Formats: sequence, C-alpha cells, structure tokens
Amino acid sequence: MSYALVKLTDFSVASLDSAIRDLLSALDQESAAVASENDWKVFRDRWMARKNGILTQLNDLWLKAAPKDAKRDVGQRVNEIKAKVEHTVDATQSRIQGGASTARVAAERVDVTLPGIRRPLGAEHPVIKTMNEIVGVFRNLGYSVEEGPEIETDYYNFEALNFPLNHPARDTQDTLFITGQESKPQRDRLLLRTHTSPVQIRSMEKMKPPLRVVCPGKVHRNDAPDATHSPIFHQVEGLAVDTNITFCDLKGTLDHAMKALFGSSVKTRFYPSFFPFTEPSADVQISCIFCGGTGTRDGAPCRNCKASGWIELLGCGMVDPNVYGFVDYDPAKVSGFAFGMGVERIAILKYGVDDIQLFFNGDVRFLEQFA
Ligand code: DAH
Repeated sequence: MSYALVKLTDFSVASLDSAIRDLLSALDQESAAVASENDWKVFRDRWMARKNGILTQLNDLWLKAAPKDAKRDVGQRVNEIKAKVEHTVDATQSRIQGGASTARVAAERVDVTLPGIRRPLGAEHPVIKTMNEIVGVFRNLGYSVEEGPEIETDYYNFEALNFPLNHPARDTQDTLFITGQESKPQRDRLLLRTHTSPVQIRSMEKMKPPLRVVCPGKVHRNDAPDATHSPIFHQVEGLAVDTNITFCDLKGTLDHAMKALFGSSVKTRFYPSFFPFTEPSADVQISCIFCGGTGTRDGAPCRNCKASGWIELLGCGMVDPNVYGFVDYDPAKVSGFAFGMGVERIAILKYGVDDIQLFFNGDVRFLEQFA
C-alpha cells in the first residue's frame, strides 16, 4: 500500500488532473487486491474512515489548502472523487460477497449421480397393530369402542367389579398404587388400572342396555420384567349386555374372533375358571397354532403348547348379577357376557416373538420387521 495522498501546492488543472489520476489508479489497484471480507474492511477504512481515511485527508490536504479562486473547482473534483471512492468500496464488497455465495452455490450443488438418501419409513407398532386388528374384528360384529383412564379409582378397578374390600381375589392382580391416598375413602383411592375391565363399568354407567363395546388400552401390574412379563401391557376388553344373552353367544362370538385372528382352522375350548365379575367364568384356549393342535412338532413334543395341543389365551364369562347392581341395570331383565385378552400375548403368538420385552425396547431392527 504505497499510495499516500500528496499535499497539493499547485492547483492548476494539469496538476489536479495528474494528482487525481494517481489517486484513482491507487484506488483501483487496492480494490483489485481485496480478496476477503477482512481485506475489504481494511480497504474501506483506509479510504473512508472518518478519522484519517483518504477522503478525510482530501478535505484537509486539498480542499482546505486550495486558494480561494480554485476552491470551487477543487470542491467539485473532491466530490466526484468521494462518489467514486464510495462506489468502488461498495462494488468491492459486492464482489467479495458474490464470490462467497458463488462458492456456497458450488458447494451445495446437487450431484445427481450420488445415491439418494432414504428416509426410514415409520410403521405401526406391532402391539398397536394387533390391538387394532382385534378391535376391528369386534367392530365388524357391531361393537363400538370405549376408552377409560389409566389412573383409576379402587372403585372402578375393583369394588364395582365385585372384588369386595380386602377380598383375596384382589391379590391376583399385583397392583401399583398411587401414594398419598390414605386420607381418602378406599373406593376413591387412585391406582394404575390392572385391567381394562373398569371400562365395562364406565360404559354401563354411561349407556343403557342393549350394549356392545370393546375397550382397548394400556394396563399396569407390579410385575418384574422378563421374557413373559411386563409391568405395562395392553388388553382388549369386551362386553355385550342385552336380553337373553347366553353362554352360547359368548362361545360363538369368541370362536369367531379367534378364527378371524388366527385362521379358520383354529379351534376353541372353554375351561372353567374364576373371575369375581363373571359367573360362570372360563379361560379360552385355542388349538396350538404351531403344531396344529397335535401336541407334536417335527416328531418332538411341541414346546409352544407344552405338548398339550392347546394354548390358553383369554378370560371370559357371563356378567355376574352383582355387577349390574353397581350400574343400575336390572339383572332380572338383562344378561351379558364379558371377555378380556392380552394384546402382547396375541401378538407374540401371531408373529412368533419369543420375548415380550422386544415390544418395549424400541430397537428399530425388531420394529422395522413389522413395517
Ligand atoms: N380382567 C381380567 C384380567 O385382567 C380379564 C378378564 C377375564 C376380563 C374375564 C373379562 C372377563 O371381561 O370376563 O385378568
């Protein structure tokens, strides 16, 4: 940067012309040398800084120094120089920024020969998929869908389902209780629902018979996780109440549902059981889908059904008349059946999954197989 503004003593046209030529050529050269944003700032300040930029020096060294009769002319020339300097500084900046954006555009240019980026597609979770499938079977039979809260009161989860206070039947469901409920009456105390059966009660409170509902949802038990247990799982509950509903209707309905879910060759068997809210109660078994109900597979005892040919799948029964008492239904006029099934258990059988934890670990390699 060798150029320095000279102090003018000769204000003749020829001398001014020559000094201006030197100045402008220095301006052009310095502009051409600017290669970065930083260079540009230095360049701008050198010419335009208010304190000691060349334009400021022009005022002092040329304009103020000019004799009276040359002032007008020098003033005009100085103004032209100022405009030119400002323009050059601006143009230099545009050149630098333009260069930067050209580089950016080059860097961002799409190379159409590269392989595309695949976005992994999401898919329905196998548990939700199975739950929807189960619900779909009953919707086709004219059932409507009802839901209820996961945080329930003791009343809906137990009492209204005919589990009396302190009755040992409560011990069959390892319950997670919400703390700090001791000051409330027992029936109002909160817990995590252990089954979807409370939605039966909520539905009957809401609707008069006849009624056909399925209630899908999440339930919670105080169970340590292992290959067959999970503290969180899902159930689908069913309830049909009308006049003259019999155990035959229950058998026909569930036999149809199991065939719809597992294939038309599946058989069902009803085994006596106990639930406080149904009388009589039954466990439903289906013929083993792995060995076709024979109990042997590839010449060896079938491991899936422990060689029995049957797999236990769900609970059911005729609604206990005591339950109607809690919802103002007249047990002399109506009858009904109910059933409840575990969704994970059905998904495990349908998809041949050997560990329930796989449903909850969130491993994409497992989940993407269901896409
Ligand atoms: N709530 C029962 C459980 O979680 C399952 C069940 C059994 C539901 C019989 C029913 C039923 O509606 O009738 O173990």
